[in-house]
Amino acid sequence: MKVLITGIAGFIGSSLADFLLDQGCEVVGIDNFDDFYPKAIKEKNLKSIVNHLNAEFIEADILDISQALALVKQIDVVVHIAAKAGVRPSIENPDAYILNNILGTQRVLDFCVQRAIKSIVFASSSSIYGNQTLPFSESFKLDKPISPYAYTKISGELMMQTYHHLYQLNVICLRFFTVYGPRQRPDLAINKFISQITQDQPITLFGDGTTSRDYTFIADIVRGVFSAINLVLSDKPIFEAINLGSQNPIKLIDMVEELYRALQKKPQIEFLPMQSGDVDHTYSDIAKAKEILGYEPQVTFSEGIARFIAWHRSN
Ligand SMILES: NC(=O)c1ccc[n+]([C@@H]2O[C@H](COP(=O)([O-])OP(=O)(O)OC[C@H]3O[C@@H](n4cnc5c(N)ncnc54)[C@H](O)[C@@H]3O)[C@@H](O)[C@H]2O)c1
Repeated sequence: MKVLITGIAGFIGSSLADFLLDQGCEVVGIDNFDDFYPKAIKEKNLKSIVNHLNAEFIEADILDISQALALVKQIDVVVHIAAKAGVRPSIENPDAYILNNILGTQRVLDFCVQRAIKSIVFASSSSIYGNQTLPFSESFKLDKPISPYAYTKISGELMMQTYHHLYQLNVICLRFFTVYGPRQRPDLAINKFISQITQDQPITLFGDGTTSRDYTFIADIVRGVFSAINLVLSDKPIFEAINLGSQNPIKLIDMVEELYRALQKKPQIEFLPMQSGDVDHTYSDIAKAKEILGYEPQVTFSEGIARFIAWHRSN
């Protein structure tokens, strides 16, 4: 099986690529080293991939995907992960999110049609739910996004639906809930806090610490994506949107206390007002993931933090 991963140099894309290569899959990846965070970090993520016999990396923008991958033969399935991520920067620069996440997704879908690829897994996000009642279920309406990032991901899901209808593309949209672990993006809270606490710097919390997130360890996410890949490859027509979370929301202040405990440091915390665009809580209902994907999160939060810190130290 040959899998195309868009955004392969990023946190989730590179972790998925390593997992797929271990499973004996062939992997081809595209990434433009978007400047959201340093290229050096992404090159490091790619280290094991670029030297692997079953992997090929192409540095290019998904906006040019057809041209960039013209010589790549026989792709069985696409995992479309490339995107401008991050809620707050999407408020500052919505155009960039529309370009990369909406037009970029359009180009990936057109590529699938041109190349007669019939199977795609799309990286969606818990952000699409906005501030709704908890836990978030896939049956909820998606009519109240509170950031440009969220509306680009809702758009992506709608585009997938249209191409499923028009071209019988098999689609699973996976709604990831705050993914953490080795290689996590440097802008995301846990990674940023571990760096600051290790260097004895104070950390800044937005809000009073009672907001919560359904933190999900990268290894659980990657296993869920792998199940989705196998499902979209089956002959049976499928279009589904599925939550991938841990169903275990943790308050921001409790997350931070866990980090201080695990790093054996004295807390130094500054509080600032909540930022607009951030949802108050995320909490996944994962009944559908369990039923359709056989998904079961395996890594507890304290175990995930311990593994993350061990990785951080070795880096
Ligand atoms: N990390 C999370 O907690 C989380 C939660 C929900 C959804 N997601 C989604 O999962 C995906 C991956 O997130 P991540 O945390 O790994 O982010 P990331 O920024 O580490 O990875 C995204 C990768 O896509 C690449 N990219 C961006 N625009 C591109 C373009 N136009 N052409 C080619 N490559 C491009 C970037 O260079 C980067 O390497 C994103 O779609 C994100 O929206 C992530």
